Amino acid sequence: MTTVLGLETSCDETSAAVLQGGAVGARLASCVILSQDVHAVYRGVVPELASRAHLKAIGPVADRALADAGVALDDVDLIAVTAGPGLVGALLVGVSYAKGLAVATGKPLVGVHHLEGHLFGTVLDDPAAEPPFVGLIISGGHTLLLDVPAWGAYRLLGETRDDAVGEAFDKVGALLGLGFPGGPAIEREAARGDPARWRFPRPMLHGGQRPGDPDYLDLSMSGLKTALVLAVRGVDDLAAERPHLARGFQDAVIDVVTQKVLRAVAITGRPRVVLGGGVACNQALRAALASALGARGATLHAPTPRISTDNAAMIARAGLFRAAEAGRPIDAEARLPFPGLERA
Ligand code: KG4
Ligand code: ZN
Repeated sequence: MTTVLGLETSCDETSAAVLQGGAVGARLASCVILSQDVHAVYRGVVPELASRAHLKAIGPVADRALADAGVALDDVDLIAVTAGPGLVGALLVGVSYAKGLAVATGKPLVGVHHLEGHLFGTVLDDPAAEPPFVGLIISGGHTLLLDVPAWGAYRLLGETRDDAVGEAFDKVGALLGLGFPGGPAIEREAARGDPARWRFPRPMLHGGQRPGDPDYLDLSMSGLKTALVLAVRGVDDLAAERPHLARGFQDAVIDVVTQKVLRAVAITGRPRVVLGGGVACNQALRAALASALGARGATLHAPTPRISTDNAAMIARAGLFRAAEAGRPIDAEARLPFPGLERA
């Protein structure tokens, strides 16, 4: 049994978690997530403020995760930290803290790719979320569709050509006067919106291929965003129209994402789809994906909201895999870029 202390500071969540893993399965003993709310004022994450907030929080958050788990630092066998991608200053806080701990205690340290972390998150909530599967990571910073035949082997099936899906939610949220982050607010508004009132374009619904590679499944959000800008300009009473605009936008995103996922399943023949990233919190998207996949005999595996958004539990789980894979402790810088990711 390996006790892992996971640390995550890549964006605007300071998080620490303790995970206990053996040959089969892993048990989450604690997970503390401190979300920085300072960014709401600026309607987006301000990197320097994020770094400063991490600096203040990382020590107490790590101590709290250990205390919640009833584990002493001495009993930790492995420290896992997000090494990238993310905001450089924010990452630096977590990596420096982790290195300090590793040097002071003599414990091994492993650097984790943030997106590999998201792939490993879902299995903490749902033991069936094991490869082979199609992985869909949709967050504020990333949109990735991956074929995952086995842990550590990742084939890129498609990504966004412009905005990440969560970023589009955030920008449209701001446009509709809904504050930051936009995703949860848009979902709330959309729930009472009329689906027939606005029909927005579905960018690259059947497109997104790249020259010479007809199976590429790229996404694009920019045309949809423009359509929203134009719609908002033409509206007299934004407050009255807001739920309907939110519904029209969300439905367009859901259609595009669902279509891409169905294509990915058709191309790869994988029986499962594993979802990760903050946008995975969206219940309407989850319901649409689950039903479309169910109709084709495939299953959707989505994490709880706590594990969808950035957290250290997923980093600890991916770190456990990486350390076992390497057969020895590996250095924080050694694992980038995305280990095993290739476009075959
Ligand atoms: O994974 P995450 O916590 O941070 C990044 O790595 O980006 O994802 C945050 C993103 C934000 O863009 C937020 O608007 C979006 O996830 N999000 C949602 C929902 N909850 C969070 N988007 C749509 N519907 C939601 N319910
Ligand atoms: Zn993330």
